[in-house]
Amino acid sequence: MRALLTGGAGYIGSHTALVLLEQGHEVLVLDDLSNGSREALRRVEELTGGRIDFVRADLADAAATRAALADRSFDAAIHFAGLKSVGESVEQPVRYYRVNLDSTLTLLDVMGERGVDRLVFSSSATVYGEPRTELIAEDHPTGAGLSNPYGWTKAMNERIIADAAAVRPELRAVHLRYFNPVGAHPSGRIGEDPRGLPNNLMPFIAQVAVGRRERLSVFGDDYPTPDGTGVRDYIHVMDLAEGHVAALVRAEPGVQAYNLGSGRGTSVLEAVRAFEAVSGRPVPYAIEPRRAGDLATVVADPSLALDRLGWRTRRDFAEACRDAWAWQSANPDGYLDSP
Ligand code: NAD
Ligand code: WQD
Repeated sequence: MRALLTGGAGYIGSHTALVLLEQGHEVLVLDDLSNGSREALRRVEELTGGRIDFVRADLADAAATRAALADRSFDAAIHFAGLKSVGESVEQPVRYYRVNLDSTLTLLDVMGERGVDRLVFSSSATVYGEPRTELIAEDHPTGAGLSNPYGWTKAMNERIIADAAAVRPELRAVHLRYFNPVGAHPSGRIGEDPRGLPNNLMPFIAQVAVGRRERLSVFGDDYPTPDGTGVRDYIHVMDLAEGHVAALVRAEPGVQAYNLGSGRGTSVLEAVRAFEAVSGRPVPYAIEPRRAGDLATVVADPSLALDRLGWRTRRDFAEACRDAWAWQSANPDGYLDSP
């Protein structure tokens, strides 16, 4: 298959590009480099011995995207492109709706014009809002109680894609609802490279361990969890990448949503201890007030993806910490090619 990866120069896209190339597929990346890196793709080429066709364009700009793809073909798309900071989305809601919705609309138009009918969309566990069950399955209600525009763009994009599929029965669309992606390729050559202050726990811990930040703020220790800190389902980015390839290959006509998670929860303090153990470095922390909008526990029921896609996580949290540390310690300042 020749897959178009929108946002393929980012964290999850670059790891997915690597797995696609390793499994014999061809990769075309369209990215505006607003949060991605050309260097990441060069390193994927170096690791795999493969070649990535790259075009720089803003997917929210339909004319620019059509021009960029004019002489390129593809027969499937994985749609990673978009803005992803929850806090920023509260401060800049219109920008988030514009970029995240227009990008999807452009992609659906272009796929329709080209007769491309396979689509995998980067959704998020955030669409479930506050969990009503201990483990969250795909039939859990979505859209209720969402507290930020970022989460709404994911729920709305799922809806837009489902409505498009209703009038294009040949479309095979998959919503992948990621839980908390962490880790890096085991080589340490590619990994997560957030610009500025990291929003997410694991890159923050990694930057403290490497000495780039002084200490971690733990957002609340009074949640109804075993140690009082937030519990999440962390998934190794290589497992996540393999889930995309399985979804792309096994997609059936219509729309299906799958959780990509491990089914196991890890608290903030457990994450700190695990990272200290693999890195051999201390991770100083201070308990701070809760972060607005945070939930106590968010853990996947991943059984549907196993049943239908034959996919499950194969790497544990300790392995994710080891690989994140390999990346962070070898690249303390990231890729250093930010445009
Ligand atoms: P990322 O920021 O590393 O990657 C996104 C890529 O999209 C970047 O390379 C960026 O330059 C590109 N991009 C952004 N706007 C664009 C536009 N208008 N046109 C073209 N390219 C554009 O993020 P990631 O962590 O790799 O996430 C990928 C996708 O997965 C996103 O849609 C994100 O919302 C979703 N997701 C991420 C997480 C997570 O915790 N990382 C969790 C759930 C869902
Ligand atoms: C994990 C835990 C924090 C940072 C977010 C988005 C979600 C998805 C993944 C895109 C929580 C605690 C964090 C820190 C801390 N992204 N924490 N100190 O909030 O589960 O999910 O990223 O789709 O939509 O909401 O992930 O990594 O920010 O937080 O104590 O400096 O770590 O309170 O319990 P979250 P996270």
